[in-house]
Amino acid sequence: MKVKNMDTTYWSVDKNVDNMENYPQIAQAADLLTKNEVVAFPTETVYGLGGNAKSDDAIRKIFAAKGRPSDNPLIIHIAAKSQLHEFVVQVPATAEKLMDHFWPGPLTIIFPYQKGSLSDGATAGLDTVGVRMPAHPVALAIIKKSGLPIAAPSANQSGRPSPTSALHVKEDLAGKIAAIVDGGTTGVGVESTVIDCTSEVPVILRPGGVTKEQLEEVIGEVRVDPALTDTSEKPKSPGMKYRHYAPDAPLYLVDGSREELQEFINEGKKAGLKIGVLTTKENAAFYDADYIFACGERAQLETVASSIYEALRSFNKADVDVIYSEMFPNEGVGNAIMNRLMKAAGQRVLKK
Ligand code: TXA
Ligand code: MG
Repeated sequence: MKVKNMDTTYWSVDKNVDNMENYPQIAQAADLLTKNEVVAFPTETVYGLGGNAKSDDAIRKIFAAKGRPSDNPLIIHIAAKSQLHEFVVQVPATAEKLMDHFWPGPLTIIFPYQKGSLSDGATAGLDTVGVRMPAHPVALAIIKKSGLPIAAPSANQSGRPSPTSALHVKEDLAGKIAAIVDGGTTGVGVESTVIDCTSEVPVILRPGGVTKEQLEEVIGEVRVDPALTDTSEKPKSPGMKYRHYAPDAPLYLVDGSREELQEFINEGKKAGLKIGVLTTKENAAFYDADYIFACGERAQLETVASSIYEALRSFNKADVDVIYSEMFPNEGVGNAIMNRLMKAAGQRVLKK
């Protein structure tokens, strides 16, 4: 579907006010959703592009605005557990425990889907459905006020880094969607963890804001989709097969010391390239390059997660020819950071 050029309304809301649902901006955003328009709003992970999950029209608008492949299903966002019965066949015991423990929060649970209860486009024809309850007062208020299950992918142009501020959403989607609700920068910074609870042992399909270790504390053994570590495997989460989060310039991850990363910079400089480096506060002063982004602190990986997409977007503004990035420990929230960086880099890792 061709995207009509439209005026995008922009509202700013303070996420700390009481009685959020009674705010006029929230009511107007919810009203647009009930009219099957699409609206971007903040969640605790990244900004989402919401639409009525029951409306074919709204779902078409989401896919068209993002330029998203139609075989990639959307996550359904709810404000209360009581909404589940509208489209979920049955709640597995593991899912029940996870909901009690992590909702609202950055965890998407895959349930068996009641065929025909939502727009076919939202679930991409699968017999499962991914659901989450976001831990953000603005998102919760809009969903609650609309009274609908809200399908919401990240509010970026498909393939680009996910948006962690309303400005990022504007850059990608202004003129293509009805409205943007600005509630400040998001906190977690990487998307929700996706866990499939339809199998006996639940399987992580996408690492995210909730770590494997945290999940195992609540439900015991959890598997990881082999496609997350072996790129020759076909991923179970359709979205994981696409190149994602990519900045305009080629990105390379450097498996080595700071000195070795600097050697790659020096070689690029000799070839006349403008060079960007993705590092952290601890190492930023070490490098000699054209543009250096200190993405949080290595000692606290949550701070790296919360600014990783800002980092990837900033290289486009700096207009560099090539980007070299440090790597991060593949544990805790480092799983999600490395997963996003590997995708953004098209799996390219350099070693001296
Ligand atoms: O944090 C988040 O989850 C954000 C915010 C806006 O809530 N949303 C988000 O949505 O990241 P999106 O559409 O960018 O990513 C959804 C991911 C994709 O990888 C998709 O393939 C997977 O969830 N997914 C959705 N439904 C699924 C299903 N039934 N089975 C397997 N994977 C599913
Ligand atoms: Mg996305």
